Amino acid sequence: MCGIVGYIGPKPVVGVLLGGLRKLEYRGYDSAGLAVVRGREVSVRRAPGKLSNLVRSLESDPLDGEYGIGHTRWATHGRPTEENAHPHRDCTGRIVVVHNGIIENYLELKARLEREGHRFVTETDTEVIAHLVESLLPGRSLPGAVREALGRLRGSFALCLLSADCPNMLVAARSGPPLIVGMGEGERLVASDVPAILEHTRTMYFMRDGEMAVLSPAGIALETFDGQEIPFEPREVSWSPEMAEKGGFRHFMLKEIHEQPRSLQDTVAGRVSLESGEVFLDEAGISGAALAEMEKIHIIACGTSWHAALVGKFLIEEMARIPVEIDYGSEFRYRDPLVGPKSLVIAISQSGETADTLAAVREARSRGARILSICNVVGSMLSRESHGTLYTRSGPEIGVASTKAFTCQLAVLLLLALHLGRLKGRLTAEESIGMVSALLQVPRAVEELLGQADTCARIARDIYLHDNALYLGRGIHYPIALEGALKLKEISYIHAEGYPAGEMKHGPNALIDHNLPVVALAAREEGNPRSMLRYEKMRSNIEEVRARDGIIIALASTGDPGIEEIARHVIRIPELPDPLLPILMAVPLQMLAYEIALLRGCDVDQPRNLAKSVTVE
Ligand code: AGP
Repeated sequence: MCGIVGYIGPKPVVGVLLGGLRKLEYRGYDSAGLAVVRGREVSVRRAPGKLSNLVRSLESDPLDGEYGIGHTRWATHGRPTEENAHPHRDCTGRIVVVHNGIIENYLELKARLEREGHRFVTETDTEVIAHLVESLLPGRSLPGAVREALGRLRGSFALCLLSADCPNMLVAARSGPPLIVGMGEGERLVASDVPAILEHTRTMYFMRDGEMAVLSPAGIALETFDGQEIPFEPREVSWSPEMAEKGGFRHFMLKEIHEQPRSLQDTVAGRVSLESGEVFLDEAGISGAALAEMEKIHIIACGTSWHAALVGKFLIEEMARIPVEIDYGSEFRYRDPLVGPKSLVIAISQSGETADTLAAVREARSRGARILSICNVVGSMLSRESHGTLYTRSGPEIGVASTKAFTCQLAVLLLLALHLGRLKGRLTAEESIGMVSALLQVPRAVEELLGQADTCARIARDIYLHDNALYLGRGIHYPIALEGALKLKEISYIHAEGYPAGEMKHGPNALIDHNLPVVALAAREEGNPRSMLRYEKMRSNIEEVRARDGIIIALASTGDPGIEEIARHVIRIPELPDPLLPILMAVPLQMLAYEIALLRGCDVDQPRNLAKSVTVE
């Protein structure tokens, strides 16, 4: 869960590497470092803490070179000190490596190398790679030595390596975490993610597991770990560099919150017919007939994506009447899950790189299940391991707190539920047309919600000093209560819990007093009996909180007149059908968490102890 970047080309290398690392800092920010080569001299500079520390060090004592590699770290092995920061070196200091992932057999390799006389100076698993290549280099080319070393490494890794004795060459390899190589005008680039090199090229190749790339002025040569050549067939990436920038917003998270009308529109575009109510999900990679035969669905995900999964359960069970089980990626393979050829496993992941979700998918595949993923990153590991992928078209999500990817996941799940409902004959064309038409109104409704930023800021000023918060929801709103609480926890460090409102009387009511902000999700669809019933019960729950002096923040439908009488603050939710209310209610909860985090002086885009893609189990 680190960021790697490498560059060979005519531009000043330090600037290119730092620019790339800036875009990768979301992957980890415990320390950063780079190595550049001039002539046959290699220089390494590292700094603990955020990238800005490395930048400052380079400003006061600049480095220069012709090519190089850089790294931003999220510590797994070894404390986040300067010594443990990447790049790491061999005994001569001339072989330099940056790495993302974990070398599981590093202790065994280290012991053997130490017996051969190698001296280790860090606590990391990564250093073993440099020494291993050093030991294998005599009599081999650099790619040959790396290939040999790769055969001895166990674990999950993406790495990039150079040797000052093999000028103008970078060797990169992937077995797990993502790695991309790019070809610009006379330049070669390697990175963990697209935005890091987008400023320089859109021509990219997404490396697969078990592939090695040799970058040199002559081009990019690809081969498998066992030496089979692979044609370099790059693709043109359509993201613009601006899409990966903050676009005038103070934080990526805020920009991403505001991008939701567009990302929701893009996610639905071309996938529905307003005339027939049909949903077109050809990318699902699983025929309609096969989908209709599925007896059971499992949805697997982590974190925010897991909350989307919970909403998906409500949608699919209601619209298609297929039983749905939800699992955390991190739990799935530690039980004996009842999945088989008649099960459809839906894996949801923004990044498509979450190790727990990937491991669960592999387990399900090995039991014969069909895998359909919902993912935001084209070409990600998850999409490659699935029989089909429905992409959320959110564009790059950089803020560690997931926002636009979440609401787009909900939109895709709704499309899928409609599709399955039609396939199963559970939804009429008319019902489907109604839902499609409402779905097309969501971007507009989200615009309206974004217009309530001032209300969210006012509420934030009222409650930001409290140490706890409770989010209550019922039915399909309960996952949004969980998501609202997660957003607050992760960026403001306030302890928050999402709870099914009806469960409060079974214990948590004891927490309520005048010091506890309680966010009540009380939007409803007028005329929908289930929604109205849930609403009435929710109102009683609000009264119960009020009777105990809790600070009530209600999310209520625009046409709900009396709510102000019982809530201290009200956020108005546009009127749309019940299945769409989770998308709408998620938006103000994101804004509220954002405003509270700002007031508490927290680092919104890079909260402590977290990283955007969790590529270790
Ligand atoms: C969300 O705000 C989180 N930072 C986190 O829970 C995230 O959703 C989780 O790690 C799963 O990531 P994925 O969607 O990329 O698999």
